Amino acid sequence: MSQPARRANDPATAIREAALRVEPALIAIRRDIHAHPELGFEEQRTAGVVARELERLGVAHRTGVGRTGVVGLIEGGRPGPVLAIRADMDALPIQEQTGLPCASTAPGRMHACGHDVHTSTLLGVAAVLRELAPQLAGTVKLVFQPAEELLLGAAAMIEDGVLEAPKVAMALGFHNHPDMPVGRFGFCRGACLAASDRFDLHVHGKSGHAAHPDDTVDPIVAAASLIMQLQTVVSREVKPIYPAVVTVGAIHAGTVHNIIPDAVHLRGTVRTLHAPARAAAERAIRRLCDGLAAAMRVRCELDYVHGVPALLNDDGVLDRAVESVRAQFGDVVDEGAPSLGGEDFAHFANRVPAFQLRIGSGAPGRHDKLHNSGYQPDEACIGLGVQALSRAALDLLS
Ligand code: NI
Repeated sequence: MSQPARRANDPATAIREAALRVEPALIAIRRDIHAHPELGFEEQRTAGVVARELERLGVAHRTGVGRTGVVGLIEGGRPGPVLAIRADMDALPIQEQTGLPCASTAPGRMHACGHDVHTSTLLGVAAVLRELAPQLAGTVKLVFQPAEELLLGAAAMIEDGVLEAPKVAMALGFHNHPDMPVGRFGFCRGACLAASDRFDLHVHGKSGHAAHPDDTVDPIVAAASLIMQLQTVVSREVKPIYPAVVTVGAIHAGTVHNIIPDAVHLRGTVRTLHAPARAAAERAIRRLCDGLAAAMRVRCELDYVHGVPALLNDDGVLDRAVESVRAQFGDVVDEGAPSLGGEDFAHFANRVPAFQLRIGSGAPGRHDKLHNSGYQPDEACIGLGVQALSRAALDLLS
């Protein structure tokens, strides 16, 4: 008879049992959202599903935060800080090729980054923490964010006051990782995802006959030279201990074989993890563009846009959350390497101490990549993610 009494007080058991109870419903919700993907700031139906579920759970919530975002609030039994947990909700402009029964019904749109999984996971966290609310010393703010793929949704929600009233003291984010087997979790200390800046560059020359280049100012040759010079930004200008990427992803110019055009349009992205590297890369790109005028007679027009900052994990939140996941499951958490991908949870992490947990979603025998038309996460990652995040919330608010 002592066994059930002991187990009832054990948070690992309570959380596991609560998560198992809601798991089938969460998988059904995930499949429903998967079949009806919506792009950034168009998540009306998805936000409706979220609001309906929060209503059903009796969780106070607001819709229309940051256009299509939803925010739920679970007050604990005792006073304490406010912890935000954020999931993203938007899909990608990809034609799904999985052939699954729950495949996208929207042509050219697909949940290929697993934000459907994230949304249902956070709904599961809502269900579990609603049950455990009397044990929480503080408040949990459930943040269902739009438009992560556009890297605009977090900023829109912050602009709409998501971090205020009640004021958020710390934040947890999470992303599924198909390159990690389901059941494993990961973290990365410090800067784990990149500052993601972009540039649009117009190289203006003077058009003319291809046979008489001396009567023209050829912007194609100038642009080609600039593209090669840009390769020296990372190799010669950024301190070698700081990772950085400069990629020119688009180049548009010209019409036919025998005309030198007036202009070339280049578009590119700059990824860095550290502020000095970010500044050095921008400085160098601006200087190389300016120098092209003197060297090759063209006129360069550079539009350099600062995107999301690097995602910086806070050691304090990270250590406690990783400890929680280990307390829930045992030795299933691995330290991983940073990535130069970008993620707008960085805006939250820039304002409050935050940590983004990596949740393994790789199915046995599959080698899926995010943003791929055949992407199929292992749905077991939903229930496991619910347990991990609920346990972290419980421990962070204890
Ligand atoms: Ni994503």
